[in-house]
Amino acid sequence: MAAAKLAALTVALLAFAGPVASQQDSGGILCLGGWVRPIPVVGGMICPGNMIPSPKIDPKPSPAPTGAGLRVGYYNSCPDAEGIVRKVVSDAVAKEPGMGAGLIRLFFHDCFVRGCDASVLLVNSSGSSDPSEMFGPPNRDSLRGFGVIDAAKAALEAACPNAVSCADIMAFAARDASFVLSNGRINFAMPGGRHDGRVSLASETTDVLPGPFTDLQTIKNMFASKGLDTKDVVTLSGAHTVGHARCGFISSDRPDMNATLARDLRNKCRSGNNNTAVVQDYKTPHILDSQYYQNVNDNAVLFQSDAALSSGETQPLVDIYAADSSGNRWETEFAAAMVKMGNIEVKTSPGADAEIRKKCSIYN
Ligand code: HEM
Ligand SMILES: *[C@@H]1O[C@H](CO)[C@@H](O)[C@H](O)[C@H]1NC(C)=O
Ligand SMILES: *[C@@H]1O[C@H](CO)[C@@H](O)[C@H](O)[C@H]1NC(C)=O
Ligand SMILES: *[C@@H]1O[C@H](CO)[C@@H](O)[C@H](O)[C@H]1NC(C)=O
Repeated sequence: MAAAKLAALTVALLAFAGPVASQQDSGGILCLGGWVRPIPVVGGMICPGNMIPSPKIDPKPSPAPTGAGLRVGYYNSCPDAEGIVRKVVSDAVAKEPGMGAGLIRLFFHDCFVRGCDASVLLVNSSGSSDPSEMFGPPNRDSLRGFGVIDAAKAALEAACPNAVSCADIMAFAARDASFVLSNGRINFAMPGGRHDGRVSLASETTDVLPGPFTDLQTIKNMFASKGLDTKDVVTLSGAHTVGHARCGFISSDRPDMNATLARDLRNKCRSGNNNTAVVQDYKTPHILDSQYYQNVNDNAVLFQSDAALSSGETQPLVDIYAADSSGNRWETEFAAAMVKMGNIEVKTSPGADAEIRKKCSIYN
């Protein structure tokens, strides 16, 4: 996609602005993959501006990713590699819990676009002058945690030069952020061995990353095309128990939303600043726990895509997780789903599009 066209789309994305637009569901149409709020008109919904609705993403299920070639303890020859990442992440999250949320989301946005290859960290792409993933509508002005990854990479280059990939640093960092934000309840081994990619294109982001206005069927299709199933959609969505969201994405006008929360959100979003952010979990905003599922059932989640989990096929698992807050069921299954997500389309040996980057923001 040409840079100019992308810039136009980014403007359209930010046109969400100010007082939350009055609109209750996407009426079945998809604007920029669900990253832009459709506008109600007589007789239905349209996309804003001259935007043409996105085609529905076809269900093209892939087999579950196996992560062949990855293994736990991959960096035996740099025995402190994972400890170095954990230290950098713990320090960053202690200072600012939102960084932990940022790192978990960064991993998701990396893995879904061209696999877990750190393509989301590249400031430009090999072989193209088009903008890279970080400038795509789901990512721009939104992703955070880049500085934490860079700090970990710098520490690793000092300890074991040219050894640890940025893709693995992101995987370890997401795991460590989960550990810290859950107060140690989510504790798991993350396999390593990923290589870094060299290609990164903003235009690919909205095809594969579900947005806040994406309907559940399309979200399931997007996950299925990465080999993830409906259960993974439910289990991984629990990450929305930490971090924040910008006002333009939230649907505080949903008629079923808890009225107290809806009023509070409208107040906080009144400034009209497109980038004002509110916490996702109004009860335990900085703890990675199963509160999200209780919030789904209490009509106290921010996105249409969250609220949609409270329906037929996904409801039973939401209920199980919501009821198990003192157990460990969601925590255990979230850990397994993060490992599975970390297996998506990995590059496990050096090649034309796979290397150990020297600096995470630039291909070698
Ligand atoms: C299922 C479909 C999903 C949709 C539609 C979705 C959508 C969103 C949106 C719109 C935001 C707010 C971004 C902003 O305001 O700039 C957000 C934030 C977040 N998402 Fe998701 N997401 C999904 C799945 C996931 C998954 C699978 C994970 C990780 C496992 C995840 C982790 C997060 C986190 C941690 C944040 C907060 C980030 C921060 O505070 O910096 N999301 N998501
Ligand atoms: C929000 O975005 C709209 C559309 O791009 C723009 O006209 C407006 O000035 C922005 N408002 C703020 C406060 O940034
Ligand atoms: C990408 O950015 C790097 C660092 O700024 C630069 O050296 C390289 O030439 C750029 N590549 C392209 C294709 O623009
Ligand atoms: C909405 O949330 C508030 C604050 O947590 C709570 O006191 C109230 O009972 C909730 N209302 C409904 C209808 O669930």
